[in-house]
Amino acid sequence: MNYRHAYHAGNFADCMKHALLVSLLGSYLHKPAPFIVLDTHAGTGRYDLEGTEAEKTGEWHSGIGRLAHEAPNSPLAPWLDLVRQAGGPRYYPGSPLLASLMLRPQDRLICCEKHPQDKRDLYRLFARTPNTTVHERDAYEALRALLPPKDIKRGLILMDPPFEEAGEFERLTQALQTIRTRFATAVVAIWYPIKHRTPVRAFQTAIADSGVRDVLTAELLMRPPHDPDQLNGSGLLVVRPPYGFAENATRLLDRLKTVLAAHDATVSTLVPE
Ligand SMILES: C[S@@+](CC[C@H](N)C(=O)[O-])C[C@H]1O[C@@H](n2cnc3c(N)ncnc32)[C@H](O)[C@@H]1O
Repeated sequence: MNYRHAYHAGNFADCMKHALLVSLLGSYLHKPAPFIVLDTHAGTGRYDLEGTEAEKTGEWHSGIGRLAHEAPNSPLAPWLDLVRQAGGPRYYPGSPLLASLMLRPQDRLICCEKHPQDKRDLYRLFARTPNTTVHERDAYEALRALLPPKDIKRGLILMDPPFEEAGEFERLTQALQTIRTRFATAVVAIWYPIKHRTPVRAFQTAIADSGVRDVLTAELLMRPPHDPDQLNGSGLLVVRPPYGFAENATRLLDRLKTVLAAHDATVSTLVPE
């Protein structure tokens, strides 16, 4: 396990994923019934963008670094407010911290992180946070062990693997089947890299052929996806998107496209309901 998210925190892909995540989580707050968030690849939860790792790549400069002057009425404001609340932009909040900041007393957050050091950092971050548990365990094994959740019917599962080992797209396709049999009502959000179109198309075809219904993809391309050695864009595949999410995702990606000077942004239905 060589991947460390500290080198990439706050880059364009994080901005896209985190703005969409906050929108997804916001849809659970309309009803008092509790919800659960399972963050299967959680990372450390918070990243120092002035730290050695972030400065080494400088990726955040073309991501969160460009959003310092966003107006309060921007569609990105709900996410950027949470970034500030967490100590950002210097201390940039990852997915579990954003989720934790949105949780109400009746809700629950479960985080899985396989890297022992990252898990220790995350555990320390949430040491005194109620309703939050941190596991050092494999994401895919966790789906089988932790689902369905006890006593909670509404839930979001975020899967954000590093794609450092071959076969990640296949494991994700299989994971969706596990979720379908164990927690069929969950909203599932899967982040994926867009380097070249071919593996992304194969993944989307496999999902469409798998029998899963109601699937949307949101993609932000910084460049045309021609160079397979570069992260040219990123996507979020969402199963059972909440009402109004597609419209909000379009607003969020359009704004990110403008501010980050991206090449293209699209929200499309992959499989209808
Ligand atoms: C892209 S980062 C996660 C970033 C985080 N979701 C966020 O948005 O702030 C991927 C994380 O998954 C961890 N990881 C890699 N393989 C894993 C596995 N099989 N199960 C659980 N965690 C894993 C890595 O150590 C890394 O911290």
